[in-house]
Amino acid sequence: MSRLSLANLRKMKVAQEKIAVLTAYDASFSHLLEQSGVDVILVGDSLGMVIQGQESTLPVSVNDMIYHTANVVRGSEKVFVVADMPFMSYANIDLALLNAARLMAEGGAHMVKLEGGKTVLPAVRELTARGIPVCGHLGLLPQSVHRVGGYHVQGRESQVAQQITEDALDLQSAGADMLVLECVPASLAKSITEQLRIPVIGIGAGKDCDGQVLVLYDMLGITSGKRPRFSHDFLAEAGHIPAAVSLYVQSVKNGQFPGPEQQY
Ligand code: KIV
Ligand code: NA
Repeated sequence: MSRLSLANLRKMKVAQEKIAVLTAYDASFSHLLEQSGVDVILVGDSLGMVIQGQESTLPVSVNDMIYHTANVVRGSEKVFVVADMPFMSYANIDLALLNAARLMAEGGAHMVKLEGGKTVLPAVRELTARGIPVCGHLGLLPQSVHRVGGYHVQGRESQVAQQITEDALDLQSAGADMLVLECVPASLAKSITEQLRIPVIGIGAGKDCDGQVLVLYDMLGITSGKRPRFSHDFLAEAGHIPAAVSLYVQSVKNGQFPGPEQQY
């Protein structure tokens, strides 16, 4: 059984076939998600919060990411696996190369994801030139939570919207093969999705992205504390876990998720 490839994901964008993405951190969920029709699994550094109980994603280490990525890869056969590069693990080009290589070689990831615009362009150029696929991440950047002062929508002001658009185009030019847009107005996400050749995956970014991603435990309704407004408890609706994941996939594919109440 061959894995879904970047070429497949690009074809899905062209065909306007929505890409269903969820996070996972272990082999059992990885297998279940794949069986339920998820296209891409993101081993997110959200694991710092939902697995480790940390207050933010900042304490997550490269070794943590490798451990969870390897578990997810072992649990699956067909999905494309993206691994987050944790806080400061790509602070310069040498670090980015070393740590991305470990995520790929030891973790078995098929792509790495890193947060930010202009600052990360040199690393993105170098990684992709050396054959490591990169996913960008713009909008709300959880690794910058202390600088930003919380988790809220980004890009409501036209100047910020313009900057995010410019960063998205620059990331694509630097070689990025996918982009996550987190918590931006739906109209901005739509415009960026239309301008880019590469697949754009949204979370709290409206229905017009090429695909959607959610944190698994949010969509199962088991995250402690307040569930983000853009999420939805699919388990409450579907009754059991495989049905909840299937319902999510189906809702993404037919454009029912996210609805108006889950976007900005
Ligand atoms: O860490 C994560 O789970 C993520 C998604 C929310 C996009 O980066
Ligand atoms: Na992340």
